[in-house]
Amino acid sequence: MRKNIFLLIIAFSASSLFAQSRWTTEEEEKAIGALLTEMTLVEKIGQMTLFTSDWDQTGPTLREGYQEDIKTGRAGAIFNAHTADYNRDLQRIAVEETRLGIPLIFGYDVVHGYRTIFPIPLGETASWNTPLAEETARIGAREAASAGLHWTFSPVVDIARDPRWGRVMEGNGEDVFLGNAMTEARIKGYQGKDLADPFTLVACAKHYAAYGAAQAGRDYHTVDISERSLRETYLPPFKAAIDAGIGTFMTSFNEVDGQPVSGNYHLLTEILRDEWGFEGFVVTDYTGISEMVPHGIVANEADAGELAVTAGVDMDMQAAVYYNYLEQHVAEGKVELARIDQAVRQILRIKYALGLFEDPYRYNDMERQAANIFTPEHRATARLAARESLVLLKNENNALPLTKSISHLAVIGPLAKSQEDMLGAWHGDGRAEDCVSVLTGIQAAIDKAATISYLPGVAIEGDDESDIPAALAAARLADAVVVVVGEKWNMSGEAASRTSITLPGKQAELIRQLHQIGKLVIVVLLNGRPLDLTNIIDHADAILEAWYPGTEGGHAVADILFGDYAPVGKLPITFPRSVGQVPIYYNMKNTGRPYDPNNKYTSKYLDESNDPLFPFGFGLSYTTFSYGTPTVTKEASTGDFTATVSIEVTNSGKRSGREVVQLYVHDLVGSVTRPLRELKGFQLVDLAAGESKTVEFTLGKEELSFLRRDMTWGMEPGTFDIYIGGDSRASQKVSFEY
Ligand code: BGC
Repeated sequence: MRKNIFLLIIAFSASSLFAQSRWTTEEEEKAIGALLTEMTLVEKIGQMTLFTSDWDQTGPTLREGYQEDIKTGRAGAIFNAHTADYNRDLQRIAVEETRLGIPLIFGYDVVHGYRTIFPIPLGETASWNTPLAEETARIGAREAASAGLHWTFSPVVDIARDPRWGRVMEGNGEDVFLGNAMTEARIKGYQGKDLADPFTLVACAKHYAAYGAAQAGRDYHTVDISERSLRETYLPPFKAAIDAGIGTFMTSFNEVDGQPVSGNYHLLTEILRDEWGFEGFVVTDYTGISEMVPHGIVANEADAGELAVTAGVDMDMQAAVYYNYLEQHVAEGKVELARIDQAVRQILRIKYALGLFEDPYRYNDMERQAANIFTPEHRATARLAARESLVLLKNENNALPLTKSISHLAVIGPLAKSQEDMLGAWHGDGRAEDCVSVLTGIQAAIDKAATISYLPGVAIEGDDESDIPAALAAARLADAVVVVVGEKWNMSGEAASRTSITLPGKQAELIRQLHQIGKLVIVVLLNGRPLDLTNIIDHADAILEAWYPGTEGGHAVADILFGDYAPVGKLPITFPRSVGQVPIYYNMKNTGRPYDPNNKYTSKYLDESNDPLFPFGFGLSYTTFSYGTPTVTKEASTGDFTATVSIEVTNSGKRSGREVVQLYVHDLVGSVTRPLRELKGFQLVDLAAGESKTVEFTLGKEELSFLRRDMTWGMEPGTFDIYIGGDSRASQKVSFEY
């Protein structure tokens, strides 16, 4: 069959309308054109149809009907099917049994690893380490591509400022600048330099757009934001994804301005294609097309299909709406054939770029699969990534690090022994049995002579306190207590919104009682969202935020607890004092009545401070850092401007450590009001005890521009205050004029 395609390429002499794309040469575009002339409408719609493989404990199985659909060219893409041999069998049907032999593309949610699981993306973002994020994505791609996959539904680039929303765990947190940097890094990692490299995956930017702005943090809920916030806050990471060369986009479930995204022409065509020039393809999120019926934007599925395809959706995931209705729409003239051809071209382009037309089985090599999955090197990177994702939130009187020669340690808490909960949601083919629990990590790190007593104390959820006395008894005999608490892995992720963000069940009560007996209490948190820790903050000597740290998480936690490494993580999202402060994020505006403790009629609460419990960018080390006075030099030439800001950073403590030096800008007056602070630079600086380094940041027009009153991007004349420090409250300041 491939021979036929080759002959078609030769035979097709008319020059293509499409010169070339980011991923394909002119020749390949011509070949696609030739193929399009051969394809029936049904086969074209097949390329626009993605079906899931039904996954269960034993592995993927494809419904009988879907196999038939592959055979008849009615399904051109499959997701949730993996392993080299299983996917080879399905690919064989497409390549050898269909009329044109067009290969399938296989997708899967490889979000933070395939089998070797890295920290959840929010946790990994806390490392602020973009080369590391690139490397974990590269490994995820390497493993998945060895298991017969071509396409990952990742990265999640949704900006999220509401911790009630369970999907904050999947993205990069609240900030645009950090979010853009992580987005670029992950795409580079997944896609490599060339998609034709069989160890890469094509990436998918999701969920386009503004999914993280769901009202009240309730998943799938309405989004109602201005075009300005959309463009300033929610769209930039998607634009960054395009600049990084991403091949696919996924629509989000929500509506924006009354239009469900899967039918939103403004987002999918006017912005994505016309303004940004995206040349890849757009897939829906799951049954996003048929969901437009309950949204109330169309009366039935047939109309939903028409709306989606004309808005710019190229591939229908699982809803089978294109499958059922597109042919009829074309026949009736409701949908133009040219639009179908455009969608199919974009899909085939990615299949070409992946090298599938050259060799459809290049991802289906059993030996390659055996050699490249869950290797010791991948696990070592998982340990490193987990370590760097941990954020030390509190460390009273240097409670941490603990000494390895401790004689008796009590390890308490419902999550201490859990392997499953190290994984977090969207853990691909990650397996609980592969994971190192916190208890196992501690056992491996500590002196063999030490006694470790373990008791859960309470369950994660529920009111039962009957096991607390036994935990207290064990703690009384110990020199220190490590309490591992948090959320069960599936309490965050999709469809996992919560109205209360305190520790569930009786976990806070367990901590309170442990503290009362007077032992050193070290709290380790496993969770996927910012938690309200107000009710435990005074009952813990130290608090280590470990997120869901992945396969090697337990070792990573022990590395930090016992001081083999100093913590380096910094929060990528604000931790509120209570859910009543939500949404709370660092780059708020001043208002006309900024907070004044002595004036009731200023912007504040009667019952709570305006400040969060832990601000964006915050995280402690085992050493301390001090900052000198920043200086600035400006360079202006026609049409150009740069400001170079320098500052000396000193490790003022007694051991080496890493500081994430952060630079924030405040544009004092603008044609639209500006946030009090905006992150515009960060650098990871490793310093030995006593060592100083001068850190330099360059701010150009790009960093200093914003969406002006007339909706164009640019800088405006005036004063800019720059703040530099170790978190978003940074106090070292320098100003300049533009
Ligand atoms: C999620 C997506 C995911 C898709 C496929 C949906 O429910 O919202 O993030 O990629 O399922 O698994």
